[in-house]
Amino acid sequence: MRENAEGPWELCIQAPAKLNLSLDVRFKRPDGYHELSTVMLESSLCDRVYVRRTEEAGVRVEASAPLPAENSLTRAARLYLDAFAAGFRGGLHIHVEKRIPSEAGLGGASADAAALLRGMESLFGAAGEEKALYGIARRVGADVPFCLHGGLALCEGIGERITALPPAPALRDAAFLLVKGRQGVSTPALFQTLRLPVRHPDTAGLIAALAGESLAAAAAHMRNALAEAACALAPEIAQNRARLLDAGALAACMTGSGACVFGLFASPEAAEMARTEFTDLPFAAVCLPCSAAKERKGDETA
Ligand code: C5P
Repeated sequence: MRENAEGPWELCIQAPAKLNLSLDVRFKRPDGYHELSTVMLESSLCDRVYVRRTEEAGVRVEASAPLPAENSLTRAARLYLDAFAAGFRGGLHIHVEKRIPSEAGLGGASADAAALLRGMESLFGAAGEEKALYGIARRVGADVPFCLHGGLALCEGIGERITALPPAPALRDAAFLLVKGRQGVSTPALFQTLRLPVRHPDTAGLIAALAGESLAAAAAHMRNALAEAACALAPEIAQNRARLLDAGALAACMTGSGACVFGLFASPEAAEMARTEFTDLPFAAVCLPCSAAKERKGDETA
């Protein structure tokens, strides 16, 4: 979509969904948030964010699926304009083509906001202001800094302390089948019902396995400490996990605070084959780790 009825877009930016390959909850902080330790992966499942500057002031956001009035894009745009484009008298027109389902734990709203921040950087030129950009990202949402960062990373704190990890050899040929039923999970409700301590995933073990060659070893360490509480709120999660394992997944794990579950497969073909068993669900899609997607498609997802 190079243009719409109002003329050409200036930019089209890919906004990739994230997967939590493991997620640990360490403790509850005095500010009420939970301290996490999570391995996050950028995937090839993307929203598309279109942007143009307008003469009239204000930020106008439209999307192919309903967005809340106060959404992550409006917030990111306003914070960016205040911080980096104080002299700009015009406005912004933003359109999002949604492919990432909401209430899924795939970070769709965060991905859109991060993509917009990158787009605004190229429109308004904030090169060298990377630290300030991450500051804005953090204010928009806990997952936005990782979405700005991309790749594979260990994220700690509430997700804002990012340690980059090299692309994982273990995942080189792997693919994910993402499935989601009709039930969503509200993040605040989930954290409210969470009982600590949780059984901790072996995060260091996962990171070591990802750096090796064995997909089975990596699969063995994929676990989400929020899953049990999420299954109590949305029983479909447990059913979908069991179905993915029945369909041949090497691991089946909830991402983020749910309700999407990913199955890990040895190849895109194996994941596609398994997808045919999930046609009853509203969402079932195959995606690749971002690094593999870029290698296979000649970097077009960048
Ligand atoms: O990040 P988000 O704004 O979606 O979080 C919604 C709510 O979930 C927070 O207000 C908090 O109660 C809870 N939460 C938490 N620990 C986190 C993330 C979210 O307790 N790391």
